Amino acid sequence: MKVERLDNLFFNRIVNEEFIKKIKEDTIPLETLMCYYRCAIMEVETKFKVLNEQFSLRYDQNPIETIKTRLKSEESILKKIKKKKLSYSLKEIEENIFDIAGIRVICSFEEDIYLLADCLLKQDDIKLIEMKDYIKHPKDNGYRSLHLIVEVPIFLQNEKRIMKVEVQLRTIAMDFWASLEHKLRYKKNLSYDISKEISEDLLECAAISRMLDHKMEIIRHRISENK
Ligand code: GTP
Ligand code: MG
Repeated sequence: MKVERLDNLFFNRIVNEEFIKKIKEDTIPLETLMCYYRCAIMEVETKFKVLNEQFSLRYDQNPIETIKTRLKSEESILKKIKKKKLSYSLKEIEENIFDIAGIRVICSFEEDIYLLADCLLKQDDIKLIEMKDYIKHPKDNGYRSLHLIVEVPIFLQNEKRIMKVEVQLRTIAMDFWASLEHKLRYKKNLSYDISKEISEDLLECAAISRMLDHKMEIIRHRISENK
């Protein structure tokens, strides 16, 4: 009985009108914000699809193999808030977390990555916020990709909003390598020795995949020269 009364007291103190108001303020706009990010993904995805269409018409080749998109889950957003020591406010989220909207563009050839990135960044509604070139400067573990954080406008009923989108451009070989390495990173039960061995093997695979990308490009040039 006593415990029940204490529970009630606690409940009434916590769940007061102010608390409900705060929950409403924070949850409804988060849904709205996620919707804006989904729209931003659509905008950037369309831009890449348009470029792909144009290149296939003009040069009879599609620079893009596949496009993958993802919206960061609320759980991952919370983890990032904690990691970056941010306060839980939508403004802080929007201003400090740049990878809520993600788009991964997989190309056959490395040179097409730079061509596409260039074409995207030349568009007058796109603003480059950050570029990390892990192709020219691979990470120590062998990871390669070109990362861009861009701002893109979305047009809503009565307003225009500028949203941030993370774009990762990779070749098929880079993507193949990254997905396997990603699996290793989340395998927590491997011994130190095995994990070290696998990391070394992966580094070797990264070098092979780099070589493969370059060889494929050389073959491509030879084919087009002989057309
Ligand atoms: P995050 O906090 O993880 O977003 O990293 P960051 O803010 O330092 O950005 P960075 O551009 O280095 O990496 C962003 C994303 O690229 C990651 O979320 C992964 O999707 C991918 N990435 C970066 N490094 C690696 C890597 O070593 N291996 C794999 N598999 N993916 C990576
Ligand atoms: Mg990330």
